Amino acid sequence: MPLLQVDAVTAGYGDTEILRNLSIKVEPNEIVSIIGPNGAGKSTLMKTVFGLLHPHQGKVTFNDQDITHAAPYKIVLQGMCYVPQVANVFTTLTVEENLEMGAFPLGKANLAERKDGIYAMFPKLRERRRQLAGKMSGGERQMVAMGSALMLNPKLLLLDEPTAALSPKLVDEIFERIGHIRDTGIAILMVEQNARQSLQLADRGYVLASGQNRHEGTGKDLLADPNVGKLYLGG
Ligand SMILES: Nc1ncnc2c1ncn2[C@@H]1O[C@H](COP(=O)(O)OP(=O)(O)OP(=O)(O)O)[C@@H](O)[C@H]1O
Ligand SMILES: [Mg+2]
Repeated sequence: MPLLQVDAVTAGYGDTEILRNLSIKVEPNEIVSIIGPNGAGKSTLMKTVFGLLHPHQGKVTFNDQDITHAAPYKIVLQGMCYVPQVANVFTTLTVEENLEMGAFPLGKANLAERKDGIYAMFPKLRERRRQLAGKMSGGERQMVAMGSALMLNPKLLLLDEPTAALSPKLVDEIFERIGHIRDTGIAILMVEQNARQSLQLADRGYVLASGQNRHEGTGKDLLADPNVGKLYLGG
């Protein structure tokens, strides 16, 4: 059984269907990248996986549990965390308070140890732990968001455009961190506009367009596929 299986899902907002008969999977310890044009339904897919939207049809299975109709707080407790595309930190709280908020669903047990684990992964956050998250740069903020999600020690981390609006150097740094997170045994499902780079890092990828799965394969295969290159990777 894959860790996450989205099986023939149709979902959207009210009566508007955005995702149509969409299937994807994530195996344990895998990085899977979703690419596709603006409005393709990538964020909608993330929200559907995380229980913020419920499918009209189809099934979502995570860690051997049917979560198709489960609420996000229950999904979190089963080991999935989500860093949304926007508003992913508490801007008026410090870095450390953000991490503590991230840990909230698990209570205070081992809080110091878990914070130390995050600071080991993101040393910059330890230096800045008393700073307000709202006063940090985009890249630092992304690290706060990822660190907060990792406070729950998830099996699967959902990242919606973790490198959006970052300088090339910071993009490299975030992708490197994502690789490290995977190396600690956490699977990652990410949506990315930096399509080429994300497919280089990913084990597998999917190309979404108009709410449908147009291409899938290993990161390498998608990068080499001329149809994917021409339409989605800028030639
Ligand atoms: N809350 C909402 N209510 C109604 N329609 C929405 C809502 N959020 C998104 N949509 C619509 O769903 C479609 C897919 O949006 P979605 O945010 O999933 O795209 P995306 O692939 O993440 O795009 P981007 O690359 O710009 O982030 C769009 O047509 C959008 O207008
Ligand atoms: Mg989006």
